[in-house]
Amino acid sequence: MSSSRVKRIGILTGGGDCPGLNAVIRAVVKNASRHGIDVIGIQDGFLGLVEKNTRPLGGQDVSNILTLGGTILGSSNKDNPFHMRETDAKGRVRTRDRSEEIPTTLKRLGIEALVVLGGDGSMTVAHKLSRMGLQIVGVPKTIDNDLMGTDQTFGFDTAVSVATEAIDRLHTVAASHHRVMIVEVMGRYAGWLALGSGIAGGGDIILIPEIPYDEKKVGEAIWARRKRGKKSSIVVVAEGAHSKGGKMAVDRINPLSSDRIRLGGISRELARHLETQSGIECRSVILGHVVRGGCPTAFDRNLATLFGVHAMELVLKGRFGRMVALKNTKMASVPLTQVGGKCRKVPLDHEWIKAAKSIGIEFGV
Ligand code: F6P
Repeated sequence: MSSSRVKRIGILTGGGDCPGLNAVIRAVVKNASRHGIDVIGIQDGFLGLVEKNTRPLGGQDVSNILTLGGTILGSSNKDNPFHMRETDAKGRVRTRDRSEEIPTTLKRLGIEALVVLGGDGSMTVAHKLSRMGLQIVGVPKTIDNDLMGTDQTFGFDTAVSVATEAIDRLHTVAASHHRVMIVEVMGRYAGWLALGSGIAGGGDIILIPEIPYDEKKVGEAIWARRKRGKKSSIVVVAEGAHSKGGKMAVDRINPLSSDRIRLGGISRELARHLETQSGIECRSVILGHVVRGGCPTAFDRNLATLFGVHAMELVLKGRFGRMVALKNTKMASVPLTQVGGKCRKVPLDHEWIKAAKSIGIEFGV
């Protein structure tokens, strides 16, 4: 039995979904039951916490979910207890701080600690709630791999694999039609996903937010390949990539989300400009949410399981206000203060960038 005084915990998944969320939920529920701790699932992220939408999670609920993408609890990347949306009688949307209600809600539900699975936005909320005295442990998820405090987030490996498979398939299309295929992947303001899948997928040019590109140089790299007899090229571009002095391509603004901007469309712009500049047919493909869906890779299932078990260890030891992390292949944890509101970009001296350059991959500079 546990030495912890905690007898019931809550668990929620916040932000965009990502492969491995269910594997974490499963690990938490299975480990909690071994310590005689009840787990209450909170539906749809922080929305369920405010609206008291919960359900008990037992062994049966987490059976056969290890390989399942998405989250059995539902998620939301718009609902933040500090700025909850409300529609008034005239249909106007306003926001209201409802965070004060949460301690009472948790008390009524008998929940003594919360495990929050999420990215930057969710960890920021988790930190604010923990400053109000709530006992919280964070678990880092995101396909973007851009969370501070951990060497890797779960979901990233799967997204890299799915994007790589898509790039593999586009090679034959590009080669058959002597085209340039410009493949856009998500990743917000960091280039991890573009870089990881670009190298694994044999991309010829990789464009990431950390290295603003020169369109002319990208065109020249494509022509240099033509002159060497390579009639097709694959450009892998991060949704947050932009030209030197240029702006990121914004697809939409979501005023209710903690990060209001949704990026997207840079590959279309680039295809238009490069085709005009080079006279070579350039086509764009936006992979978008496809890389976020489906079954997690073995690596992500294992990382998610380790994270879930380590989150429970923190709960059992009463080490709250922390996020579990992977540090030099070992399980660790960092204070939530060090996580939210920051973005872990690809360092310019990262081994992936060095290796990519060493094998002739161009970055448009
Ligand atoms: O953070 C994960 C992510 O998929 C980003 O890569 C992307 O910019 C964003 O979420 C998309 O958000 P939404 O699901 O709201 O379109």
